[in-house]
Amino acid sequence: MGSSAAHRGEVALVTGANKGIGKEIARRLAREGMTVYLGARDQERGRAAEAELLAQGLDARFVRLDVTDQAQVEAAAERIGADADRLDVLVNNAGIVVEWGVPTTGIGAAQMREAFEVNVFGNVAVTQACLPLLERSPNGRVVNLSSPLGSLTLLTDPENPISTRGLLPYSSSKAALNAVTVVYANALRAAGVRVNAANPGLVATDLNADSPFSRGTRGPEEGADVPVWLALTGPDGPTGGFYGSMAGSPTESVPW
Ligand SMILES: NC(=O)c1ccc[n+]([C@@H]2O[C@H](COP(=O)([O-])OP(=O)(O)OC[C@H]3O[C@@H](n4cnc5c(N)ncnc54)[C@H](OP(=O)(O)O)[C@@H]3O)[C@@H](O)[C@H]2O)c1
Repeated sequence: MGSSAAHRGEVALVTGANKGIGKEIARRLAREGMTVYLGARDQERGRAAEAELLAQGLDARFVRLDVTDQAQVEAAAERIGADADRLDVLVNNAGIVVEWGVPTTGIGAAQMREAFEVNVFGNVAVTQACLPLLERSPNGRVVNLSSPLGSLTLLTDPENPISTRGLLPYSSSKAALNAVTVVYANALRAAGVRVNAANPGLVATDLNADSPFSRGTRGPEEGADVPVWLALTGPDGPTGGFYGSMAGSPTESVPW
């Protein structure tokens, strides 16, 4: 399977791993020789992704995980703890857009809560539940799937198309996620757990199927490049950064 010695036997959890970029991240980590838990909120979709990866000879294990359901979050961490006793990689990939086609002025608190439940609170719930397991890894890594749409620098640049998008719940929830990323990175540095934000680039997935803007030409396989690069970094790798260009290059940073 071409697995590398560096990562063989490592344990990873990817949320929202039943499709899109998350499924490709899970596949790539499993190809490195990791045991990968595929978090999915729907049993049928999660099992289908698990079957697809198992058929490729990969160690993929479906775990029921709606990131907005605290009981499921705790049960998933308990299961991984019971099986493996540690977690080397957590990829917080699950994310939603709730506002395609809705003007900014049409957004109320209900849509804000819906987006924040998954993109921010779900992220914190899963990260918190996994922390004791991540701290047991000699090289714990957390990768948060963010977006340039959450960059205050780009949102305030009138020359940048990001500033014209008007996606109130998505942009503000990804901006909050960026702050979550940095605060966790600072808090966990001493424990040797590194936390970074990844921009997968513009990738045509179900997430932006209803987008009135360009969906890009990149597929989920390419979208996995930056998050996988971060997930495979060694103990001297970065923490507290926001990586990936619009074209998917991990070497470029996204401005906060
Ligand atoms: N596509 C892009 O251009 C792009 C750009 C920048 C950042 N991102 C980010 O990349 C990540 C993955 O997006 P994608 O493009 O691959 O989207 P996608 O194909 O729509 O996949 C999203 C995944 O998140 C899952 N999910 C949604 N709500 C969930 C919940 N409450 N609990 C658990 N899982 C949940 C979905 O599960 P279901 O199948 O059950 O709905 C699905 O597996 C997101 O965080 C997104 O914001 C994407």
